Amino acid sequence: MKKKIAVIGLGYVGLPLARLFATQYQVVGFDINKNRIAELTKGTDKTLEVPDEDLQAVLVTDFNTNAKGLYCTDALQDVADCTYYIITVPTPVDKNNRPDLTPLYKASESVGSVLKKGDIVIYESTVYPGATEEECVPVLEKHSGLQFNKDFFAGYSPERINPGDKEHTIEKILKVTSGSTPEIGIQVDELYKSVITAGTHLAPTIQVAEAAKVIENAQRDINIAFVNELAKIFNLLNIDTHAVLAAAATKWNFLPFKPGLVGGHCIGVDPYYLAQKAQEAGYHPEIILAGRRMNDSMGHYVASEVIKLMLNHDLKIKGASLLVLGITFKENCPDVRNTKVVDVIQHLKGYGTSIDIYDPWASPEEVMREYGLVTIDSMPNKKYDAIVLTVAHQEFITLDLDVLKADAAAVVYDVKGILADKAEAKL
Ligand SMILES: NC(=O)c1ccc[n+]([C@@H]2O[C@H](COP(=O)([O-])OP(=O)(O)OC[C@H]3O[C@@H](n4cnc5c(N)ncnc54)[C@H](O)[C@@H]3O)[C@@H](O)[C@H]2O)c1
Repeated sequence: MKKKIAVIGLGYVGLPLARLFATQYQVVGFDINKNRIAELTKGTDKTLEVPDEDLQAVLVTDFNTNAKGLYCTDALQDVADCTYYIITVPTPVDKNNRPDLTPLYKASESVGSVLKKGDIVIYESTVYPGATEEECVPVLEKHSGLQFNKDFFAGYSPERINPGDKEHTIEKILKVTSGSTPEIGIQVDELYKSVITAGTHLAPTIQVAEAAKVIENAQRDINIAFVNELAKIFNLLNIDTHAVLAAAATKWNFLPFKPGLVGGHCIGVDPYYLAQKAQEAGYHPEIILAGRRMNDSMGHYVASEVIKLMLNHDLKIKGASLLVLGITFKENCPDVRNTKVVDVIQHLKGYGTSIDIYDPWASPEEVMREYGLVTIDSMPNKKYDAIVLTVAHQEFITLDLDVLKADAAAVVYDVKGILADKAEAKL
């Protein structure tokens, strides 16, 4: 049977996937965001995950063509004749850090309304184990009137892409696959295997694949929480944490994690999905939630360390002029979702300081919309009492910080530990 693939949600995950499948299959990319569709149809990706020339190479404008390629649309009827539906919509947490499955339910309703006998719906969004079959499949059944594992089938294949990483691109990352029956597992696996050059790992069940993804990110969160705790201890002892980590890393099995702010919508969010499911099952996760608490405390900690450094340099805090370098949640990437730099800024503002935020990657409009903060995307022509490097964008590594300092007492605080002796203190 000819494969026609719908990708539902064309964000950081969906677009690279749709682009990759479109090199071999007929793909329809569907997104409810009209602006996103307009931008993609013009051949530009503002997330910078897919280079414009790669996007333009697969884009097709004729929806009725049988040729391979990617057709982007916000009209649901355009995906009606697909046989595979791959759902890559956001899975955030609410203000109480509880999983918010609304986008998944909505996408499942949409797909359910066009589902036909024999179709396979594959979820890629990060969820807790059980979410696909317990939460999403009933919505598909309700809106299609079809019966699960008889009329239609499901799969789960978690995404592992790393935004901003131009080396580990989607086809080079081994992908875990799964299906709602053993036969469908093989079919889903073969679909991904046909485009992922790094290969696939077929998990025995959907729940196993869901659990595998969520623990990958929970493990990173806990490891970073551990080095953040080390940074707090070594700062009290006046020992250079980065020097300690470099020394320890000479042992073959020491894991090279660095202290820092844990933002974004993966590492800082996914552990809450697992924690919720654990609590529903009657287990209160101790280590997972301790890791979250530690990492969520780092914005406040960094701000208080900056203030301490300024006081040690006899700088007046109230009214001091500060420059924060970077607002995105990670380096060399425009994604500002759930960035913890905002915590640093809020706490520093609480001391009465005046703050400029410079980020050459972030969209000032998006930062204003998300956080109500003004950012500048070109180098400021001002002098500052303190400069706080929060994100390791490539532009900052070679920046001449001396020209930005108000006087000899001005200080630089390096959250990322990349400035060597250009900083008075680092995390
Ligand atoms: N970004 C990452 O690094 C990454 C890596 C691995 C896994 N994930 C997971 O992948 C999922 C998607 O993340 P993302 O970063 O691509 O999100 P994103 O916000 O970049 O993109 C999601 C897209 O889905 C669209 N959308 C929302 N609801 C929709 C609906 N009902 N129908 C159609 N489109 C809809 C949005 O308009 C948006 O364009 C999440 O579960 C995330 O945890 C993300």
